[in-house]
Order: sequence, then C-alpha cells, then structure tokens
Amino acid sequence: MNREQISRLAHANHPIQSPLDDDSVRQLLEHGAPCGDERVLDLGCGGGEWLLRALTAHPQLHAEGVDISEDALRQAREAASRLGIQTRLALHHQEAADFRSTDSFDLVLSVGATHALGGLLPTLAAARKHLAPGGRVLIGDGFWEREPSQEAIEMLGDFTDLATTLDRVVADGWTPVHGHVSTRRELDDYEWACWGSLASWALDHPADPDSSQVLETAAARRTEWLRVYRDTWGFVSLVLRQTSD
Ligand SMILES: C[S@@+](CC[C@H](N)C(=O)[O-])C[C@H]1O[C@@H](n2cnc3c(N)ncnc32)[C@H](O)[C@@H]1O
Repeated sequence: MNREQISRLAHANHPIQSPLDDDSVRQLLEHGAPCGDERVLDLGCGGGEWLLRALTAHPQLHAEGVDISEDALRQAREAASRLGIQTRLALHHQEAADFRSTDSFDLVLSVGATHALGGLLPTLAAARKHLAPGGRVLIGDGFWEREPSQEAIEMLGDFTDLATTLDRVVADGWTPVHGHVSTRRELDDYEWACWGSLASWALDHPADPDSSQVLETAAARRTEWLRVYRDTWGFVSLVLRQTSD
C-alpha cells in the first residue's frame, strides 16, 4: 500500500488532516470568511475538507484547491459531487508553488501544509501573491511547546516556540485577527483517530496482503508520537490580515 492509500485510511474518521475538532474548524472558517460570499483558495487542500465545509455552509462562496495528490483531489471531487457543490469548486493537481491564477482570493488557506511551500514564511509569501485587497489568510502550523529533542526536530522540522512564531508572522507584515491553539484533546484525538483507523482496518481485513503493513504503520506512528514528540509539539491556527495592503 502506498503512502497516499495509508493516509486515506488513517483519515477515514478525521477528514480534517490536522489536529482540530469540528468546532474549531467552523470558528476558524467564520473568521476567515466572515461574509460567506468569498473566493477561497486552499494551498495543500488534501481531500478538500476545509473547502467542502466552507462551500456547504455558504451557498455564495467559491473555492479552489491545489494539491499534488491525485488521490486526495479525486476524493475531494467525489465529495463535492455528493454534496451538490461541485460547480463552485475548482481543483488543481500541481505543486502549490507553481499555482498561478488571474483571479485573486479573499481567503487563502494553508493548514498543516506549510511544508508544501518550504515553511511558514514562504507559505505566507505565496499566500500574499494570491490575496485580494483586504483579504485574509488562514494558516495552521506546528510550534514547540517545550524544548524538542533532536529526534523530534529531525522528524517534524525546525519550528520555534509560539511567541517567536507570532513575532515572525507580525514582522512579516501580518496582523493576527483570530487564532486557535489546538488543545491537548484535539492533538491526542487526531493522533488516536489516525492510528485507530489504521489498526481497525487491518484487523477487519486480516486476509488482505497489506494488513500487517498497515498494522505495523499504526504501531510505529503511535510509538513515535508517544515517545518522540507528544510532549513538545503544538499546533496553532491563525487568521491573518496584512498590516497594510
Ligand atoms: C497534512 S495534509 C493537510 C490537508 C488539508 N490542508 C487539511 O488540513 O485537511 C498536507 C497536504 O499537503 C499536500 N502537499 C504536500 N506537498 C505539496 C506540494 N508541494 N504542493 C501541493 N500540495 C502539497 C499533501 O498532498 C497533503 O494533501
């Protein structure tokens, strides 16, 4: 089974691929798209869950998503058709850095996908290029709650603490207008949902040739989380406006 198939199984019960619960996602979208008729772009949209929720909640909203995973985009397309919102959703199979549009967007989203553009500040730079005057960015990224081990840095990347993360964002010309730090429960629930789905699938399909690989993946992720970064890693989502347009 390839990485994308495993990711799909892992997120079966947590379609938002970041440690955020439904209420947090709803509130972040409300702050990101307060009018409901926005044009929204998601860089690294995965299965499009953020866009699907925004489109479902707001019949006047239009959205575009960019991702390199054909499998994830197919899921997004199928879900949009099931929900009857496909005419308001455009999906682009390409590198987020290569995406160009003649349109600008009122909200540019990138949650759990800053690695797609080389980190937090490069993602904000990319978002800025696509932003309409007065537009907002909704970005979600990791930070260190405590001093990380070298192993955690190697596994997750070199984040900073929350205060420094905010300082960098502000120094880059952005003003946070809303924010959410994922709770202990959101962080744990997300991880447990991912391993739980993998383990359940493996146990439900014992004769499948991929069953033992999937079970091992679930166990490895659980061990990494508990032993390497559960106590040091956090996740912050920010709604930002440009300090001056
Ligand atoms: C953790 S998922 C987050 C998905 C979604 N934003 C969410 O929160 O549900 C990260 C996504 O980034 C995508 N990605 C990784 N590198 C990318 C790149 N260079 N260009 C576009 N998308 C990329 C992956 O395919 C994956 O769908």
